[in-house]
This record gives sequence, structure tokens and C-alpha cells, in this order.
Amino acid sequence: MEQITLMPRIGDMAPDFEAVTTTGKIQFSDYNRGSWVILFSHPADFTPVCTTEMSGFALEKEFFAQHNTKLMGLSIDSIHAHIAWVNAVYEKTGVLFEFPIVADIDMSVSKLYGMLQPGESETAAVRAVFIMDPEGKVRLIMYYPLNVGRNMEEIKRALLALQTSDQHKCAMPLNWTPGEKVIVPAPKTVEALQERKKSDLEMVDWYLAKRSLN
Ligand code: BEZ
Repeated sequence: MEQITLMPRIGDMAPDFEAVTTTGKIQFSDYNRGSWVILFSHPADFTPVCTTEMSGFALEKEFFAQHNTKLMGLSIDSIHAHIAWVNAVYEKTGVLFEFPIVADIDMSVSKLYGMLQPGESETAAVRAVFIMDPEGKVRLIMYYPLNVGRNMEEIKRALLALQTSDQHKCAMPLNWTPGEKVIVPAPKTVEALQERKKSDLEMVDWYLAKRSLN
């Protein structure tokens, strides 16, 4: 009987693994230590949607570096296919995928992270995105099917929302983008509520108050 692995959930420690990648062998926990990591899977090399997505990540290299974030791609392809694809895209478009791409030919990492969703495909990983914080905790997960590419602006927004929330101990409202007001945690006592009423917070109701970060 096949063993069923529980996929990681938000708040879990990221499952560790060692993998062959396009930049050499990597121990995930070492790669993650001290930086945020976005681990993302794609269904297959040499496919059109995947090429647009991987190029999108590559073009945001400076953004992710500025925000202490490393990238790691993954698909159930061989290291030779990965290398040939990276080279082909570079020769055609000038875009180089410098981040490591895991050659998950035995599907071990895909299974560990719940990237194999048999109702969608038995052999290809879906388009998953896992954002890990510098302590190695899973903080955000997205899953997209094979036929719909992800949204780079949303991935970047979500990363900044997590980092800003951690830094300022606040929550982010619908569609929050940097520069906009953030949500202040609701008061936990009647006294704190009375204090809040005297504050200059933008208050919709006692439990929904916003402030600027600058
Ligand atoms: C694509 O990247 O274009 C793709 C890959 C697998 C299935 C469907 C589309």
C-alpha cells in the first residue's frame, strides 16, 4: 500500500530534503537558513506557460534579493532536461534562470510538498508556491492548475505583506499594497478599547482600525 504523506500546511516547518538542482546539490534547510525562500513547482520543462512563469521569476531577481528572498524551482524532469531548457530560453530570449531548479525525477519532493495532485495530473507537478520565512516555517501556499499561469505581482505582494506584517505586528486588508494603511490588532480588553477610541487611528468600528506605517 502506498504511504500517504501529509502535505505541509501554513505554520508547519518546511519539510527538509536534499536535491539535485541546476546549481548543484542542495540541502533545503541550509538554503533556507537566514532568508525567505519561495519554492515553486512547474509541470514540465519546454512548455509555454512554464517558460513565461520561470522567466517572470528570473526577471524579478533584484526584487527578491532586495527582500532577502531566495528562489527555488522544481519539476519532475531530469537535470539534463532542466539544463537544456535553461540554455534554450537563454539563447532565445536572453533571460537566464539563475536560481536552482530541482530535478525531482523520483517525485520525492513533489510528494513531500503535495505538488502532485493526481486529479490534475499523475505525472506532472501542479503550479505550487510555498513561501518560507527565515526560520524555515511555511507562511503561505498557493496552488494553480496546469493550464493557468501564476501572477507575479500577487506573489511579490504576498511576500511583502508577510514581511511587513511580521515587522510591524499588523494585518493586511484586502488588496493591500505597500504604502497603504494596515490593520491594527483588535483590542483585547475593555480598557484597551477605550484607549483606542481616543487614538487617531482610522476606525470603522472598534475591531476594525487602520493606521499608516510612515
Ligand atoms: C505549459 O506550461 O504550457 C503547460 C504545461 C503542462 C500542461 C499544460 C500547459
